[in-house]
Amino acid sequence: MIVLRTIADVRQAVRQFRKEHSEGMVGLVATMGYLHAGHASLIRKAREQCGLVVISVFVNPLQFGPNEDYERYPRDEKRDMELASEAGADIVFMPSVEEMYPSRPLTTVSVSVLTSGLCGASRPGHFDGVCTVVSKLLHIVQPDRAYFGMKDAQQVAVIMQMTADLNIPTEIIPCPIIRETDGLALSSRNVYLSDEERRQALVLNRSLQVADEMIRNQQEASVGEVRERIRETIRTAPLADIDYVEIVAFPSLQVIDDELPIGAALKSSKVMAALAVRFGTTRLIDNRLWDAEGGLV
Ligand code: PAJ
Repeated sequence: MIVLRTIADVRQAVRQFRKEHSEGMVGLVATMGYLHAGHASLIRKAREQCGLVVISVFVNPLQFGPNEDYERYPRDEKRDMELASEAGADIVFMPSVEEMYPSRPLTTVSVSVLTSGLCGASRPGHFDGVCTVVSKLLHIVQPDRAYFGMKDAQQVAVIMQMTADLNIPTEIIPCPIIRETDGLALSSRNVYLSDEERRQALVLNRSLQVADEMIRNQQEASVGEVRERIRETIRTAPLADIDYVEIVAFPSLQVIDDELPIGAALKSSKVMAALAVRFGTTRLIDNRLWDAEGGLV
């Protein structure tokens, strides 16, 4: 595995690979570092499918709001290199902010509609920052496939829309959410949690399990009732401060009518329960997806 820090070097390495392996596939896993088993699962998937696996580690200032955690976002280059290598990366691209943004970009990429709700509503400008950096990375690496985690399901929907709208010839591969054995979805931000917050944060996955049971056994329950059960469950944790709990169609992210029975909703699209909850200053997200048969996707 090699570590490259300039755009020119990455382009050169990918060009070299393509010259030597005309049939070989190039895979990209974009990350902000502080890698964990969730990131590793994407790298491993890319390793299975591609001849060259590039992972980017870049804490993108453009996607953080003025009062968010850009400065304190956890960073550990050495550990990231070890984990990336173990998971099977060939190239780790670790650019500086100056390399990616030599001056303030006057061109940004903005996806409408899909970014107005969920995290887009509470993090204005966030998805413009994500789309801008992801389109830059896709242009730099020019991968055949790029791997994204369903942990950030709205991000997956937005990036799929962006690549379709702009004819970017990279296939977007969604990958399942990786959880700790106790159910907490892995996130670089989990390190911010105190022991007590960490314990109470288990309520997120539990609330989605409650929804899962309801969806499997009570197809006549309304979408609004399912959402209320999720909220009630989360509220049993005194430190939980709900940002949103929504039930939407996937990947359109359209809000589903509260009155509609969940069984009827599932007949017309995949259904996603998505939530964002603060524990102290830490904002966590989680979600679950159901398909037409009511089974988990
Ligand atoms: P980051 O939060 O580092 O996540 C990088 C990738 O890992 C994303 O596709 C994310 O969905 C995936 N991921 C994170 N936790 C996961 C988990 N528990 N299970 C499965 N996949 C998980 O998402 C970003 O960075 C940035 O927005 C980025 C796309 C890199 C643009 O800056």
